Amino acid sequence: MSYAAPDDPAAARGISRRAQSDIYRAGISGSTPRVPIDPVALENAARKALSAEAFAYIAGGAGAERTVAANRAAFERRQVWPRPLRDVSVRDLSTDLLGIHRPTPLLLAPLGVMEMAHPEADLAVARAAASLGIPYTLSNQASFPMEEVRDAAPHGARFFQLYWSASDELNASLLRRAEASGCQAIVVTLDTHLLGWRTRDLDLAYLPFTRGLGIAQYTSDPVFQQLVRERVRRGADASAPPPPPPVRVTPRTIRAGISIARKGAAITGSGGLRENLRSPLPRAAVETFLDVFSTPALTWEDLAKAREWTTLPIVLKGIVHPDDAGRALDAGADGVWVSNHGGRQIDQSVPTLDALPGVVERIGGRVPVVFDSGVRGGADIAIALSLGATAVALGRPYAYGLAIAGEEGVGEVIRNVLAELDITLGLSGHTAVSQLGPDALRRA
Ligand code: FNR
Repeated sequence: MSYAAPDDPAAARGISRRAQSDIYRAGISGSTPRVPIDPVALENAARKALSAEAFAYIAGGAGAERTVAANRAAFERRQVWPRPLRDVSVRDLSTDLLGIHRPTPLLLAPLGVMEMAHPEADLAVARAAASLGIPYTLSNQASFPMEEVRDAAPHGARFFQLYWSASDELNASLLRRAEASGCQAIVVTLDTHLLGWRTRDLDLAYLPFTRGLGIAQYTSDPVFQQLVRERVRRGADASAPPPPPPVRVTPRTIRAGISIARKGAAITGSGGLRENLRSPLPRAAVETFLDVFSTPALTWEDLAKAREWTTLPIVLKGIVHPDDAGRALDAGADGVWVSNHGGRQIDQSVPTLDALPGVVERIGGRVPVVFDSGVRGGADIAIALSLGATAVALGRPYAYGLAIAGEEGVGEVIRNVLAELDITLGLSGHTAVSQLGPDALRRA
C-alpha cells in the first residue's frame, strides 16, 4: 500500500483528501474503517485484538498512570485558533530533520516487543512507514534483528534506538551494525536506566523479556553471543555463583520455557525446538540480557564514547529539563528528543508538552527537537510543532494499528494522523508546517 512517494511533498499534500474521500466513498457501500479513527475506539479495538498481557504492556504506564493522563491533559490546555480566508489550497507538510528534507514532520517512536502485537512486528511497521516516507526509529528491544528490518523495507528511512547497556563492547557493536545496515541516526534513550514501576505488568507478573521476547537485537549480536557463551562456561565452573532458586513448574512455566527455546534459535543456530529446549544457551541469553540491559551508573561523561562508536548523528531521547537540553548541546548531541517514555517511567512526572517550550528555548534552534508522549492525532502534532518541535513521534497508536491489522493497520494510523494534521494546518490558516508558531495557539 503506497500513499505518497517518500520524497514528494506534493503527494503528502494529497493525503488528507484521499484519506477522507476513500473513507466516505467506502461508506456508501456500508463499510466503515477496520482501524478506528477515534483514538479511544482505536485503543479499545486493539485491546480486543491483544492478549491481556500484551495490552497491559503496551497501554500501561508507571504507578497510578498519572503521567500518562498528564501528557494528554497538557494537550487539552492548548487550543488551535481557526483562521479562515487565507487561501490554503496548497499545503506543504515537508520538514528538514537531521540534514534530510522529509515529506512530513512525523516519525515513529521506538516501540519494543512488537511481536506481542503482531507476528510480523517491526517488519510490518518498517514496510508501512517506508511506503509513506515516515522515518522509523527501530527499538533496541525490537523483535527482529535490524538487518532483517532493513531487508523488509530497504528504502525506508530508519533510526536506531540504543539502550546503553552495561557492556560497552555490546554498545559499540550495536552501533556498528546500525551504521552498516543503513540507519540515518542513533537515538540514545536516557530515561530507562532503571525499568519504571509498571503497575499493570507487575500485577500480571509479566515482563516479555523474561520469555525471550524483544531481545532479537541482542541474540543476533556477535558480542552478546560471546557474553552468553562465557556465561554458560562460567555456569559449568564450580566457582560460579549459585543458580537462581528453581521456579515452580506450572503450565505457564512450560509455555515460558518453550517461548525462550523458540527465541533461542537465533543464538543456538538450530531451528529444532527439542535441541533448543535442551541447550543452556537460550535461558543464558535471557539471563545475560537481564544483566546487561541497562546501567544506572551512566553519566554525561560516558556519552562521549558514543562518538567513537559511530559517525551517525546522535539524538538524546528522554530530555525533559531545560538544563539537560543545555547539557545535551554541551555534549555535542545532534538532536534532543523530548519524551517521558509515554508516562511509563515515573508516575506523576512532568508532561512533555509543558516541558517542550523550555527545552526549545534552551536549544535555540541549534539542533532539532523531536517531541513525543501523548500524541494521539494530527491536531496534537500541530500543537507540538507550534510550540517549537521540529518533528513529532507517534507511539502507542501505531502499535494499536499493528495489533488490529498488521502492516495495513500501521499504514492506516499514520495516514489518518497525517490527514488530520494537514486539515488542521489548512483550517488554522497555514500553508506550511514551518509557519506554525506560538501565535497559532491559545492557552485554555
Ligand atoms: C515504548 N517506548 C520505548 N522507547 C524507547 O526508547 N525504546 C523502546 O524500546 C521503547 N519501547 C516501548 C514500548 C511500548 C509498548 C511503548 C508504549 C513505549 C517509548 C516510546 O518510544 C515513546 O516515547 C512513547 O510511546 C510515547 O508516548 P505515547 O505516544 O505512546 O503516549
